[in-house]
Amino acid sequence: QKDGYRFFMEKEIHEQCVVTSDTMLGRMCDEKVDFEEFDSSIIEGIEEIKICACGTSFHAGLTASYLFERLAKVRCSVEIASEFRYKEPLLNKNTLFIVISQSGETADTLEALKMANKEGLKSIVVCNVDNSSMTRIANYSVLTRAGIEKGVASTKAFSTQTVVLWMMALYFAQYKNSLSIEEMNSELKALREVPKSLKVHDSTHEKTKRLSKRYLHGHGFFFIGRDVFYPLALEGALKLKEISYLHAEGYPAGEMKHGPIALADPELFTIALMPQNLLYDKIKSNVEELSARDSTICAISPLDFDLADDYIKTNKYDHYMLEFFEMLVVLQLFSMEISVRLGNDVDMPRNLAKSVTVE
Ligand code: M6R
Repeated sequence: QKDGYRFFMEKEIHEQCVVTSDTMLGRMCDEKVDFEEFDSSIIEGIEEIKICACGTSFHAGLTASYLFERLAKVRCSVEIASEFRYKEPLLNKNTLFIVISQSGETADTLEALKMANKEGLKSIVVCNVDNSSMTRIANYSVLTRAGIEKGVASTKAFSTQTVVLWMMALYFAQYKNSLSIEEMNSELKALREVPKSLKVHDSTHEKTKRLSKRYLHGHGFFFIGRDVFYPLALEGALKLKEISYLHAEGYPAGEMKHGPIALADPELFTIALMPQNLLYDKIKSNVEELSARDSTICAISPLDFDLADDYIKTNKYDHYMLEFFEMLVVLQLFSMEISVRLGNDVDMPRNLAKSVTVE
């Protein structure tokens, strides 16, 4: 039941503006965030947060690490679950352990959660499936309420996870009094606008269709961004890889000059995430360096950028997270349209399964 869409992925991209409202339902009051799943005792005695996840869920975790530190002023580290499991990690009881999983069944994330439980850490799972293996064993489960996600390429799972984690950062900020009333109000106002920022605009979709023709041939893609737009760049690259089978890498823009810029030539496509509200001048100068070395640049930004070979204009918002969500939709559409043009199976890409229950 694709409801008239060509693919489940396309349907799920369109659903994001609705399901993120469900994610927030009952969890946002006038001036605060509330979770019925836990109370403020969850943060008592907590000195740091550790997040573990795989794939797209890891990217949501990496995004959240910026938000937890910036908003709640809690130290936060993020690890890929398959690495965490075998590194003999030193765990501390004052750490809140958060795992993120759409399915709640990913073998490595489940094992990481078991390890944390065994060490007596407080654990939370951010999950889309109730009564999954992870929700059964975590101390607390926060459901993302994305509805069933059928496309192997995760879309609405990521946006709802990110919304939940942003809300959790604000919940902890309330407890820690780390934001002024004005700052908290502006965060809450931005959160309420998330569904709007996730709307698919026909003109943007058309643009990604047109661009998909040009970006089929080359020797690779760099998706670059800074701050939370770095995990978003990772997510954009992962989306493209898994359904188009083209080589793509996500990179923190400031790292390009430390090696990867050596690859720059017209056949290297740079997808540059250039938000207005966060480090615009910094990313701009990183992109200028790539352009000076002839990389083909596709800029995604609300601000005009003359050096771009192609340009996808996004809306202007007051908050960088709203720019983040609108750019997420652009990246999802872009990878989907490239996959379509290549004749690939968008919903069931080769070699991949929806849920990775073996390590
Ligand atoms: O169910 P999970 O969130 O634990 O799955 C983790 C990854 O396997 C998953 O996010 C994968 O990377 C996506 N299919 C990517 O689109």
